[in-house]
Amino acid sequence: MASFNLLLLPGDGIGPEVAAEVEKLVKWFDRQGLARFEVEHDLVGGAAYDAHGAAISDAAMARAEAADAVLFGAVGGPKWDGVPYAHRPEAGLLRLRKDLGLFANLRPAICYPALADASSLKREHVEGLDIVIVRELTGGVYFGEPKEIVTLENGEKRAVDTQLYTTHEIERIARVAFELAARRRNHVASAEKRNVMRTGVLWNEVVTRVHKDEYPGARLEHVLADNCAMQLVRNPKQYDVVVTDNLFGDILSDVAAMLTGSLGMLPSASLGAEDPATGKRKALYEPVHGSAPDIAGQGLANPIAMLGSFGMALRYSFGLVEAADRLEAAIASVLAAGLRTRDIAAPGANAVSTGEMGDAVVAALAKAA
Ligand code: NAI
Ligand code: MG
Repeated sequence: MASFNLLLLPGDGIGPEVAAEVEKLVKWFDRQGLARFEVEHDLVGGAAYDAHGAAISDAAMARAEAADAVLFGAVGGPKWDGVPYAHRPEAGLLRLRKDLGLFANLRPAICYPALADASSLKREHVEGLDIVIVRELTGGVYFGEPKEIVTLENGEKRAVDTQLYTTHEIERIARVAFELAARRRNHVASAEKRNVMRTGVLWNEVVTRVHKDEYPGARLEHVLADNCAMQLVRNPKQYDVVVTDNLFGDILSDVAAMLTGSLGMLPSASLGAEDPATGKRKALYEPVHGSAPDIAGQGLANPIAMLGSFGMALRYSFGLVEAADRLEAAIASVLAAGLRTRDIAAPGANAVSTGEMGDAVVAALAKAA
């Protein structure tokens, strides 16, 4: 039986509550003999700061480096508002992304038919929606130098951020997008602003070349990023995979996310470079939502974003595509049966707890087996 090493970093707030539901899945897969996961646990975020004085310890980082995949809950909360900037809870996530070299962020936007009425768009525009935004995560204007605020001689201030991309950075994110598309509908839309940005010109050129040389069977379309935002709201189902830079990806992935309803439903993956020797990638999976201090500790959190993140790990890190499909079908069937945590329930309707939702997904998996 295949065996995988999974590092679970539950974090703060609702992180541990939704992580507990993943452990139910892990145990189920184990019992069924479908896959064995060696699950290690460690602290991250405020919890790690309280214990070690840093948002992630060196020991936890070493475990993350060694793991087949990291599953991350969420970090932060008002308790840590006053901690030194270098040790704020988010620093744990940023260090993981940086040290593991996680340059590709995959954000699926899937609309379950049972929830199509929760979208701000009409049902016909979102029912059956299944797209992925691939966002470059370690380059671009969030990191480019110079990055500063300087005071000019006349007393005015001038702020500078630098958008910067190299051929190599664009090539590797383009490959992630084309590889992903090949397992889906084989359509990639590449979004940039070549009309006003030099990085957009290079982006367009490199993606075009990677397509021509390496993935000629895929359908490639170039779209200006602002138009892409409009199209995502006007007719999102025209897309399959959208690949874009760090800044545009930050915005476009949030736009795509809200087409589908609640934060509690949204998984994500962040992938690093493929190791040429083993073919494996460093990878971190996490729900898009934060630590939700307003509902933490009350059993109200929706675990589906976290369960779906584990599903992405099954698919992209462990190669267990059938298991991933089965998990997605189990989630869809639980929703179709009408089960709702409070965030996705109609106002005044009955809602189930975090644990009840997790149990129901396991039961649906078992039924499909
Ligand atoms: P948030 O995502 O934690 O919560 C926003 C709203 O959505 C809240 O009303 C919350 O109750 C609800 N919500 C979020 N996840 C839910 C779930 N699974 N089920 C049901 N309802 C859910 O974002 P917010 O409030 O802006 O930030 C709270 C804390 O989380 C802050 O300390 C922030 O820095 C941190 N944060 C951490 C992130 C991470 O760990 N990757 C990402 C975003 C925020
Ligand atoms: Mg964002």
